[in-house]
Amino acid sequence: MTPDDLKALVRTVPDFPAAGIQFRDITTLISHGEGFAACVRHLAGFAREGGAEAIAGMEARGFIFGAAVAVELGIGFVPVRKPGKLPVEVIGIDYALEYGADRLEMDPGAVTPGQRVVLVDDLIATGGTACAAASLLRRAGAVVDRAAFVVDLPDLGGATRLGRLDVAVDVVME
Ligand code: PRP
Ligand code: ADE
Repeated sequence: MTPDDLKALVRTVPDFPAAGIQFRDITTLISHGEGFAACVRHLAGFAREGGAEAIAGMEARGFIFGAAVAVELGIGFVPVRKPGKLPVEVIGIDYALEYGADRLEMDPGAVTPGQRVVLVDDLIATGGTACAAASLLRRAGAVVDRAAFVVDLPDLGGATRLGRLDVAVDVVME
């Protein structure tokens, strides 16, 4: 599948979750078996090239792609969660995104010191979520220098904000 084929599978919903936001919805992409598999293969190839020893995905949409990539590579998956979900002592970080603010938490014992962890999420907009997740993983001792996304919204500058990371995307939506 070409990037244009994949782009055509992403649905755009105006004014969700707030007026003025063009919501790029991957529901339509993941319901298409071939499209979903093509994205996972591409993200997995990028993670493999970077020597990934584990994949981290951000709740919730990052779990869909991140877990699939981890299975494709036969490596572990680290869930970076929204607040109050993990049953152990967590480390956490507050961050801003296109339509509000949130918090991510993780179990610091989910990675080992020096482990190479690649971030996977469905979409990068402002980059707030990915920057926050990378900081958190580094605080836990992981090495994070790659991040892979299905959709990039370049107008929001996220990939630029991740200057220190190598970034791969499947679909660019202006
Ligand atoms: C969405 C998306 C990314 C993030 C991107 O998640 O899945 O994680 O926003 O935006 P950013 O680059 O501006 O940080 P959201 O927080 O809406 O949660 P969800 O996955 O639970 O829908
Ligand atoms: N996360 C942040 N901005 C988004 C957008 N415009 N569409 C879908 N998910 C998003």
